[in-house]
Amino acid sequence: MSDKLLFVTGGAGFIGSALVRLIIQETNYQVVNIDKLTYAGNLESLALVSQSPRYFFHQVDIADKLAITDLFNQYNPDGVIHLAAESHVDRSIVNAADFIQTNIVGTYNLLECTRAYLARKSKPDFKFIHVSTDEVFGSLTDEGYFNETTSYDPSSPYSASKASSDLLVRAWQRTYNFPAITTNCTNNYGPYHFPEKLIPLVINNALQNKPLPVYGKGNQIRDWLYVEDHVRGLLTVYQSGQVGQAYCVGGKSERTNLEVVESICDILDELKPRLDGSSYRQLITFVKDRDGHDYRYAMDISKLQSQLGWQPLETFTSGIKKTVAWFLANQQWVAHVQSGEYQSWVAQNYTHR
Ligand code: NAD
Ligand code: TYD
Repeated sequence: MSDKLLFVTGGAGFIGSALVRLIIQETNYQVVNIDKLTYAGNLESLALVSQSPRYFFHQVDIADKLAITDLFNQYNPDGVIHLAAESHVDRSIVNAADFIQTNIVGTYNLLECTRAYLARKSKPDFKFIHVSTDEVFGSLTDEGYFNETTSYDPSSPYSASKASSDLLVRAWQRTYNFPAITTNCTNNYGPYHFPEKLIPLVINNALQNKPLPVYGKGNQIRDWLYVEDHVRGLLTVYQSGQVGQAYCVGGKSERTNLEVVESICDILDELKPRLDGSSYRQLITFVKDRDGHDYRYAMDISKLQSQLGWQPLETFTSGIKKTVAWFLANQQWVAHVQSGEYQSWVAQNYTHR
């Protein structure tokens, strides 16, 4: 039936669930979703594909050596796409412990379990795709772009933990000839985004008439990539990327945070006007800046474009419209996240296979 079986770690998260949906809907691969289901893991994001006979789920911590080893023995995967992580910068500033444990120790365990598996099985085409972030490179000024040769200079506990995991992957490649590829991607946005991150938080606060918090002056710049473009890129890297390489992924869509918030307000003004006729922009509230806040991220994606033929299909203008429309049409998903109901969804709706 299927020619490949992939492990996707963190497949119940924002990007991981988009990847699992893409793989089930557009390939004939089997997918084993390995996710601990932290606060950020939501199996409701997989409702469209979870009945597929090619989809399997295991609630497992990537740092659990015995459980991960058992899964390798049970499924004999042809590759791993590793997304499981603690991902929110503000949480890492308050308490970095889970970031160190999952992003560093968890990645180390996954590398070691994969290496032991590859020592037992002959899998010449096996690839381990390590999904990382542009935040490992630190901050840009108004000029220039990150690329695959930019040196590492992380600012936050989150980005330092991701940088550590990238360096472990690189060391495993060099020392053990480990078949890894690292991707470093800019900020994602799109459907099923957990509403603690800027874009979904602003959409949901606006719909509830709550303040829209903009850190500092809102002049920091991010390079936004629509999540479906990102996961298409990850699949391309798995299928055609060269082992030992890194690929930078980005949206070619730089915006200041204030511009992002204002565009969301303008789209909502059009799609769901406020009863008193005023603009959602009135809710914008400038708040204390984030400590260690990086000023600008922007990516040179020419390697991925020229070598693997990938490029983003959405512009920020088209992607943000789709995103706002998705949140308006999926208020139940949001309500379940906000009420915490999504965490009991497994017990009520899901039979583990
Ligand atoms: P997310 O927080 O939405 O999802 C993370 C998932 O990992 C959740 O389902 C969670 O339950 C799971 N998880 C956490 N700890 C785990 C553990 N110990 N074992 C197993 N599962 C665990 O994150 P996301 O935004 O989807 O990001 C996915 C990956 O992409 C991360 O590695 C992140 O660093 C990277 N990334 C994210 C962005 C972005 O803009 N969101 C950009 C570039 C790279
Ligand atoms: P975020 O979505 O947390 O992603 P990251 O920190 O990984 O880039 O934040 C995106 C930008 O938006 C970042 O510069 C911080 C800023 N921000 C706000 O201004 N207000 C908010 O409420 C949040 C969550 C973020």
